[in-house]
Amino acid sequence: MADVTITIKQTGPYVIEGEVIIVDHQGQPVPITPGKRLSLCRCGASTNKPFCDGMHSKIGFLAAEKAQQELDNSAPGTGA
Ligand code: FES
Repeated sequence: MADVTITIKQTGPYVIEGEVIIVDHQGQPVPITPGKRLSLCRCGASTNKPFCDGMHSKIGFLAAEKAQQELDNSAPGTGA
């Protein structure tokens, strides 16, 4: 059983539960609060990267699969 769980939110961040260490591109630890649930941005719009700041909701972020579904549904001839 894993000690860390990463949940991919459908239209939001990666939520990490469990003890982890996050390091930057130079291997330096990114300060985090031990025991606190983390949310990492995957929409690219956060002003507090690598953490989610809720901006995904404001920009209408859709996961790739959901974005493709919406594109397919809006294509000419689909009745949308
Ligand atoms: S996923 Fe939340 S701000 Fe990017």
